[in-house]
Formats: sequence, structure tokens, C-alpha cells
Amino acid sequence: MRNFLNLKDIPVRDLKKILFDAKRRKRLRKRLNNLEIDKGAPLKGKLLIQMFEKSSLRTRLSFYLAIKQLGGSTLTLRPDELHLSKGGESIQDTAKILSNFGNAFMLRTDSDKKLEEFEKYLSIPIINGLSPSSHPTQILSDIFTVEEIKNKSISRLNITWIGDSNNVLNSLIAASIKFSFKLTIGCPAKYQPSKKIMKYIKSNNNKISILHDPKKAAKGADVIFSDKVISMNDKVNTSKKLNQFKKFKINKKLMGLAKKNCIFLHCLPRGKEVEEDVFLSEKSKVWQQALNRVHVQKSILLYCFGKLR
Ligand code: CP
Ligand code: NVA
Repeated sequence: MRNFLNLKDIPVRDLKKILFDAKRRKRLRKRLNNLEIDKGAPLKGKLLIQMFEKSSLRTRLSFYLAIKQLGGSTLTLRPDELHLSKGGESIQDTAKILSNFGNAFMLRTDSDKKLEEFEKYLSIPIINGLSPSSHPTQILSDIFTVEEIKNKSISRLNITWIGDSNNVLNSLIAASIKFSFKLTIGCPAKYQPSKKIMKYIKSNNNKISILHDPKKAAKGADVIFSDKVISMNDKVNTSKKLNQFKKFKINKKLMGLAKKNCIFLHCLPRGKEVEEDVFLSEKSKVWQQALNRVHVQKSILLYCFGKLR
């Protein structure tokens, strides 16, 4: 049994194995409908319990299809209906019950501490479905999408992030260190990664640079990533922050500074950080990116269950 909490703690060999398995599974079920089960139903009889403390569309749907396609099933809990939030039941007792009734637990949470606490008390695998500090299932899936579209290893590509230094970027930074790809971050000086992340970047021999000019960041990029300027539960003065990011909005001109065949990726949901004519352009691969989460999360589940071949 293995957990999937943060990319930085998972050996790159295992991450590559997950991607390899996802590629194979995706190819093998080209002609199957969404709810048809993969040959061998490797997670037959298994129950994935999901809980979302924050909104979700894609993560919810993709984990639903992922476990179904592996032959298992899922149950989604609403935190406000559990004793954990209102009745004061402890994480320890909740985790014991989850472990007795289910086979894996996927948590989207507003607290990194809560993930750690659940990890401590669960005897089933736990998957981080987004926390304030990371979004590892998203980024592993995005690496899959990049390699699928570019048909080369991500280590040979120039990846650019233009936007806020948030949970998704933190996971992209970890991925850059693990997979050894060039990552250029374009963000206002005031919004660069946290001290902890800067320390992590500095203590690893890596290919990450941080620029405060979006044009310089876009130059030569094979892929430009962005995300909302205001993340869920971001406790800031919204209009002030949006204003500070005005120069960093992804528009056609900025995309034009990147390589000719540069693609645009965004985990969604989107806000004001990208112009409609980029988001809906041919360069934008956001719908393919979203769907790929099903394929990669299937292989993440198999990894957690120790069933990855
Ligand atoms: N990208 C992503 O995680 O989307 P949701 O918040 O809709 O799950
Ligand atoms: N950074 C965003 C990602 C949403 C999937 C947030 O945390 O709200």
C-alpha cells in the first residue's frame, strides 16, 4: 500500500511507471465507453471514498470514472454531513471507520495538516486531491498530456508558468526537480514562491528560473501553463491582486513570443488570467488535459494499491 501525497516524496521511477501504465491503459480502451471496465478489472470490489472540503468538478468526475474503469466503485462524502466537521468527531476515529469501510481515501482539503493527520491514522492509501500547498494528481497528469502532445520526454522541453505562485505551481516545481525539465516562472516580484519553496528550489540542483517579466518568461517556451490568480480560499484583496497581475494575462501577443508550436495548458477552472481567444484557440489543449486526468488517476490508484505492473 502506498500514499500519493506529494510529488517530491515519490521516487521518479514510480512516477514514470505511473505515466507508462496510463499511456498503455489509455491506448487499450480507445473504443470503450466511459463506464466500461478495463480488461481484468484490477480493482474489482474496491471502494474509493472521496471527500471534498473545497469545490471540485474535474477531480470529482475523473476519480469517479477512474475507479469505475478499474472495476471498483466510489462514494463521495460531504464534509458538512460528517461528525468530523460539526460534531467534533476526531480525525483518528473517522480514519478508523474509513479504513474499515473503504479501500482508499481521496481528500481535497483546506489544510495540509489534515492530510498528515489522516495519513497517520488511516490504514488504507490516501491521495491528495488538492491542498493549499500542492495539487500532485493534476501535475502528474499534465506531464502525461505534455508528453502525449509533444511526443517527447518532458525533460527535453521548455516549460513556462505565467501566473500566481500557488499549489499547482508548487507541484510543477516538484515535477521539474523530479523529471529534470526546464521551468521558467513568470510572476510579479511580490508573488514569487514561498520561502519554503524557494529553499527547496535552491537546495536542489535544478533548472528553474523566476522572472518578473511575462515576455521574457514566454520566450522560447514549448508549453505555457497558467492558473487562476485567485485560488479557492485565497484570503487577499481580490481586485488589488488581479490588478497586480494585469501584465501577466496570457494573450495572443504573449503566446507569439513562445515557440511556434507552443501549447497552452490550464488546470481549470479559469478566471481572468487568459484571454478567450487564447483559451479557445488551437494552441489550447485544456479539454484534452482535463480528460487525461482519468487515465493518470487510474494508474495512481493502481500504484496506491500496489498493483502497478
Ligand atoms: N483542475 C481541477 O482540479 O479541477 P476541479 O477543481 O474542478 O477538480
Ligand atoms: N489553484 C487553484 C487550482 C484549482 C484546481 C485553487 O487552488 O483554487
